Amino acid sequence: MRLLSARAFFRDPVGYVRERGENGAVLRLAGPGRSLLVRDPEAVWRVLVTDADSFRQGKWKRRARRFVGDTLNTLDGEEHRRRRALLQPVLDRWRIASFTPQIAARLESAQSGWQDGARIELRTELERLSLTIAGEVLLGADLENDAARLADALTVVMRSVPRLTPPLRGTRHKRALATIHDTLDAMLADRQPSGDDLLSTLLRSDLPAGTIRGELIAFMLAAVDEPPSALEAAWFLLGRNSDAERGFHAELDAKAGTAYLDAVIAETLRLFPPARHIDRCPVEDVRIDGTRVRAGSNVLVSPLVTHHDDRHYDDALEFRPERWLDSDERPKAAYLPFGAGAHTCIGEPLARSIMTHALAGIGRRWHVGVDPAAPPPGPRSPKLSVTLTRR
Ligand code: HEM
Repeated sequence: MRLLSARAFFRDPVGYVRERGENGAVLRLAGPGRSLLVRDPEAVWRVLVTDADSFRQGKWKRRARRFVGDTLNTLDGEEHRRRRALLQPVLDRWRIASFTPQIAARLESAQSGWQDGARIELRTELERLSLTIAGEVLLGADLENDAARLADALTVVMRSVPRLTPPLRGTRHKRALATIHDTLDAMLADRQPSGDDLLSTLLRSDLPAGTIRGELIAFMLAAVDEPPSALEAAWFLLGRNSDAERGFHAELDAKAGTAYLDAVIAETLRLFPPARHIDRCPVEDVRIDGTRVRAGSNVLVSPLVTHHDDRHYDDALEFRPERWLDSDERPKAAYLPFGAGAHTCIGEPLARSIMTHALAGIGRRWHVGVDPAAPPPGPRSPKLSVTLTRR
């Protein structure tokens, strides 16, 4: 089996695997931490779904625990099942759909200061928007006045999760965490459980105060990071592909449903999945597609790499929303932006609602101009600046 360098892999996962990965279902990554990349859809499905009981959450989640404690996305087994059952109704599709008027109002207010010809850092605007929507849906709170400060603090914490050391006293990370704690503590101080939102559900449970706070932070981290990341990528891709951009605007102008819009979202999540990699740790020695994987290894499933595999997608590197308008005959784990199995994204309905409303609401009013020299969005890229033109 080919040995790939972990460092080179993480720098450019798609390019590196396409160049060096041959066709192996499982690739070993040389470097600290005995990592393996599970690449083929059938093997991915086994890790995340069929054989999931042989795995626990991986080391990235264990690092996240230092910030947020025992939250849904860091728990395993029976504890995870119980927490998931407790929180699932909050993110239920029908509940999220009932917030459509509030989401539309937040979107309206986010755009109220935008000027024709202005250049804006789109991602920053979208982070605040996504956070205020999450505040309303999950916390039953109006975060509008805190959104900028809170979004910045959450972004700092998000970036520090992969670090090896816990946040140290006096550092930016520690201060950011304190800002988040203060905001939440102020909110929790005078709140009684009063509905079916996340905050009320947690307050009604018998979970300790620290766990409740951690859970709220984990959800807000996802809200501030994931939908804005997808939306930034969508505008980048539309800005680079004039046929797709025309199709997108034409459907909006004709008020002809959302088939093309949905396809734009699907294709964006394929090319720029906000959760690039998912990790798991085998609790016993396992075999994955004939390869022996020792207990304690770091098993990576990479939506990013699998989504760019020519064996599953024609012209896999190309942005072609049309591919989603035809029937979908790919193996099920060839497309997994929201993961699969017991830990599959609980926030998907909320994420989809934010993405759909934001793309349609902004696209109806504005042409979002992307600089041809702008680098593709990614963890190492600067935020995308765009030029707004009123339509
Ligand atoms: C486009 C947006 C999003 C994408 C692509 C995404 C992706 C994912 C993926 C791949 C997982 C599985 C991780 C694993 O298996 O270890 C996940 C889990 C999770 N997501 Fe999302 N997510 C998005 C938005 C959101 C939002 C808006 C929220 C909540 C506000 C959220 C909350 C969560 C939580 C709590 C989990 C853990 C679930 C569990 O372990 O049971 N996500 N997400």
